[in-house]
Amino acid sequence: MANKLRSQEWFEEPGYYGFSRRAWLRSEGFGADIFEGKPVIGICNSFSELNNCNAHLRQVAEAVKRGVWTAGGLPLEFPTISLGEMFMRPTTMLFRNLMAMDVEESIRANPIDGVVLLCGCDKTTPAQLMGAASADVPAIVVTGGPMLAGQWRTRRLGAGTDGRKLFDLFRAGKLSEEELDEIEGGIARSTGHCTVMGTASTMACLAEALGMTLPGCAAIPAPDARRLALAEMTGRRIVEMVREDLRPSRILTPAAFDNAVAVDMAIGGSTNAVIHLIAIAGRLGLELPLDAFDGISRRTPWIVNLKPSGEFLMEDFFAAGGVPVVMREILGLLDGGCLTVTGRSVRENVESAVCHDRTVIRTADQPLTAEGGTVILCGNLAPNGAVLKQTAASPHLLRHRGRAYVFENVREMRAQIDREDLPVDKDTVLVMKSCGPKGAPGFPEWGHIPMPKVLLKQGVEDMVRVSDARMSGTSFGTVVLHVAPESAIGGPLAAVRTGDEVLLDVEKRRLELCLPEEEIARRLAEFTPPPPHYDRGYGKLFLDHVTQAHLGCDFDFLRS
Ligand code: FES
Repeated sequence: MANKLRSQEWFEEPGYYGFSRRAWLRSEGFGADIFEGKPVIGICNSFSELNNCNAHLRQVAEAVKRGVWTAGGLPLEFPTISLGEMFMRPTTMLFRNLMAMDVEESIRANPIDGVVLLCGCDKTTPAQLMGAASADVPAIVVTGGPMLAGQWRTRRLGAGTDGRKLFDLFRAGKLSEEELDEIEGGIARSTGHCTVMGTASTMACLAEALGMTLPGCAAIPAPDARRLALAEMTGRRIVEMVREDLRPSRILTPAAFDNAVAVDMAIGGSTNAVIHLIAIAGRLGLELPLDAFDGISRRTPWIVNLKPSGEFLMEDFFAAGGVPVVMREILGLLDGGCLTVTGRSVRENVESAVCHDRTVIRTADQPLTAEGGTVILCGNLAPNGAVLKQTAASPHLLRHRGRAYVFENVREMRAQIDREDLPVDKDTVLVMKSCGPKGAPGFPEWGHIPMPKVLLKQGVEDMVRVSDARMSGTSFGTVVLHVAPESAIGGPLAAVRTGDEVLLDVEKRRLELCLPEEEIARRLAEFTPPPPHYDRGYGKLFLDHVTQAHLGCDFDFLRS
């Protein structure tokens, strides 16, 4: 061991406190030899039975421990808060920064020389990367992997995406209660995160693209024995990383973020990746402007044919070769020299990757589309930008001008959306306000406004929807999100009224409210912000310090 270990500051301190720290750790049943130069490896575990996606992570942690012991380290597992997408109110996004603070301070406050981050559900991966980037001790990620493909009778189902489609059929009276109950029992067949290219799958792929996991980690199904084998290898590798002093700040460089954005575009990743990547970069003092996403999107082909944009599921992606094949396909668009947790470069990691199924991962020469999945829009309705997943949108709506039907908030939308007399048609633009970081609060995934029942019955499956909300990565449709500044702080979205015309032009990257600027300014001058949702506690901290969508929604005081 070349350098003194960080943990030795705790355990080799002369005097009473060094003695008592050793004694208290030995109370867990360890012998005195654990203090003989073994790196202490924290296993930062977001296991929780309140988070089905991460409910298997204790088993993953045991595999990591085997690897750490084998390589001569001392594994010590510790919990973090866990953010289960399905259960937390009002939204897990309210708590991403809290989890990131938990991770950062747990690492910093404890005798940890290196850390293995166990995550899976949507916010848990970015939160751990944000915290570990700020703490900057050697760190490596093991994501929990996607759940098994859902099943209903002879049909394969993608959790999230197909659930929404089938539930719309139920709303339209085309599925019975008995059939819906069968679907409920089979759509999520194991622990692990959602099995389409939603936010969790996207962030797992991007953790790998950033160089923060062993190659191939992202796509291995959660119950697959090969995930435990990879976890064991990760445990061995983190001990070596401590010896090499291989910290996140050496891996998470500007070029690594550009690589991750390119992979995001190639996989047709979730719109939420934009916010999370900006926030992780901010922890290293790096700017990642929305323009960078759009520039990279324009030159990066979409090549991964997964739902919700495409046809297949994460199990198919794994069988086809996963992220290493994607990165090899677009290597010419990446910085292949970026350092990764393997101690080798991106190029060395992926250049021998072999694709086993070209229906799932296309070549860069024969992509699904020439451009990437996510586009950045701008205009008088979104001066600080908005996002749209063009690969999950309807081509005929990518240039559209229609009259707005406005919901002032989500409660209004829910109360009205199933009204048989809702005055909307296929050309209407649904607009929803008060769903941003401060307005909702917490920036929930309400942006996929359900199709109005009256239109579903007419067979209309998509329409333009605009809001300052986020959207689940498993969702689909012509849905404009993250409009910034948000309406609750007086962004132009606050000025839209039912009957106004809204223009969406994806090719020109425009989102416009078709009114004279003076009229928009006049309406905004009359705008009164709603009262804050919290006057104490974490909620108040969030409202006082959260940044807008285009800045990643981290707290202003947590950026580097
Ligand atoms: Fe956890 Fe979908 S609910 S990833």
